[in-house]
Amino acid sequence: MKVLVATEKPFAASAVEGIKKEVEAAGHELVLLEKYTEKARLLAAVKDADALIVRSDKVDVEVFDAAKQLKIVVRAGAGYDNIDLAAATAHHVVAENTPGQNSNAVAELVFGLLVFAVRNFYNGKSGSELKGKRLGILAFGNVGRNVARIAKGFGMEVCAYDAFCPTAAIETAGVRACASVDELFRSSDIVSLHIPATPETLKSIDYRTVNLLPKGGILINTARKEVINEPELLKLLAERTDLKYITDIKPDADVDFQQFEGRYFSTPKKMGAQTAEANINAGIAAAKQINAFFADGCTTYQVNK
Ligand code: 3PG
Repeated sequence: MKVLVATEKPFAASAVEGIKKEVEAAGHELVLLEKYTEKARLLAAVKDADALIVRSDKVDVEVFDAAKQLKIVVRAGAGYDNIDLAAATAHHVVAENTPGQNSNAVAELVFGLLVFAVRNFYNGKSGSELKGKRLGILAFGNVGRNVARIAKGFGMEVCAYDAFCPTAAIETAGVRACASVDELFRSSDIVSLHIPATPETLKSIDYRTVNLLPKGGILINTARKEVINEPELLKLLAERTDLKYITDIKPDADVDFQQFEGRYFSTPKKMGAQTAEANINAGIAAAKQINAFFADGCTTYQVNK
């Protein structure tokens, strides 16, 4: 079988090596398409692929139409909003993700960005510390749990809200469970977003919600830019000069956000999962899932059921 790894933002070389080893050990062939800038290159590469491994690469109906041999696509990572699941199903392609494999990397970046933010982006002026601050975690999945673990090391007070995770499960992790999104924002100095981009969450982080943050509040987003209502957040940042917005996913309106110098920061590229460890974990998990699928039809991580 031909396994195509198509990554506009490539994995670390060590991860590619690991994926190749896994795939070849199972008797399959690995084809690599990295740093492609034109969709035409992806469309040409998928033509004879039996399996596809991607990161945030868009796998839409056009890609499925071109991929006549495709049987399985694995998103090496957590969020699979880049894959058109209905198109996958219509084309009889199994779509999977690799949950949890890159979550520590994203959680560590949260704190890298937070220290940077509370120290005034290292401009030399006196900043503040994370110890004793209240951190609100929105969604208590794999990343949210790692954020909670690290936050405790910093001596932060941690609370979380998750529409799908029972209160008991949050409390078992030693974290205070909030009853609502509003309570989370109202009772946190910093809110860290870890919700997926779904029809329910799109633009859900809006003026009203963020305005619930107390004075000096920080919103940090290492989830998806689509969950932010950008025009409303821009309006709020203009009105409330005490708030900061920090993200590793450049907003569509990045140029407008840049007017809030000292209160806004975005990394140039999505950085959360950009570590060798996360790439190895997610990439090799993807390769193993593909091997298992071809060996015995295993679809444990299928997301288009
Ligand atoms: C994920 O959903 O797993 C993360 O957002 C990482 O995405 P990336 O592989 O595009 O960096």
